[in-house]
Amino acid sequence: MSRLTNRDFLKETDFTSEDLIYLLDLAAALKKAKQEKREPKFLLDKNIVLLFEKDSTRTRCSFEVAAHDQGAHTTYLGPSGSQIGKKESMADTARVLSGFYDGIEYRGFGQSIVEELARYASVPVWNGLTNEWHPTQILADFLTMREHCDKPYKDQTMAYIGDARYNMGNSLMIASAMLGLDFRSVAPRALWTSDEIYEQACAIAERTGARITRTEDVDSGVKGCDFLYSDVWVSMGEPESVWAERIAALAPYQVNAALMAKADPNAIFMHCLPSFHDTRTTIGAEIAEKFGITEMEVTDEVFESRQSVVFDQAENRMHTIKAVIYATLC
Ligand code: CP
Ligand code: NVA
Repeated sequence: MSRLTNRDFLKETDFTSEDLIYLLDLAAALKKAKQEKREPKFLLDKNIVLLFEKDSTRTRCSFEVAAHDQGAHTTYLGPSGSQIGKKESMADTARVLSGFYDGIEYRGFGQSIVEELARYASVPVWNGLTNEWHPTQILADFLTMREHCDKPYKDQTMAYIGDARYNMGNSLMIASAMLGLDFRSVAPRALWTSDEIYEQACAIAERTGARITRTEDVDSGVKGCDFLYSDVWVSMGEPESVWAERIAALAPYQVNAALMAKADPNAIFMHCLPSFHDTRTTIGAEIAEKFGITEMEVTDEVFESRQSVVFDQAENRMHTIKAVIYATLC
């Protein structure tokens, strides 16, 4: 049995700081084993169901490949095609799926939905993103950070720049508090992380020695930072009508070469992806036509630069999700 057997992973604080480090160590070991073609299959004959009420590339593929590598089978249920929500409540769905499956992944809207699913399920439930939290993304990010920076987490500095009220702003703040970073949340005041989450992060920081700051000031926020992290300005599930106000509010917070230069000279750019850094997507092209901007939260120059580790983060989604599945099912 692992130290996390049978546990849900719905948000970072479901686990301790030590548990997060355990998962990161496990993910690094599983990654190395796969690279060296000696990965043992710990999940033979396990069945996992993947519930997605929102779109996904990385999270879905990570769960599917991680499960396959470990010998487990997956079933994908998308936003349509099942009875969930329309004819069957989450509470009933949880009890039905617990009879078939060893673990349940859920991506959707409010955190209360995944909490309800977990309350009624008798098998581990993993949060693959809600409006409030994105805990499996955090594991990939912190694995990437330790691969690219020799300093221990307690000596690392990160600035998250953009809409700080949503999943990534919340999850990065809490995880940074748990792992002892100097973390700055840089955003216009209207888009700050809530007082409740900020106060929770500060309380955790008192124990871990982390420093947690919310600021509107880009210059002081990014000064000397090891990592600059951004996310889309409008998240999945938000109405299209918010684009205009969000572009106006966040344009001064775009991660571009000038902003990178204000951080540490070796600063690393991070992004959970997908990212609007050019017009080669339907939404990117529509925004360019409507608002006359061809890049949003990050410029193409920074996204494509050698300081960017976004595709390492993406790959690490799979290795870290594998660690979560293994640790909670074995
Ligand atoms: N970062 C992330 O969660 O990507 P997907 O939306 O593609 O799963
Ligand atoms: N904040 C983004 C993260 C995507 C991985 C969203 O919720 O759409």
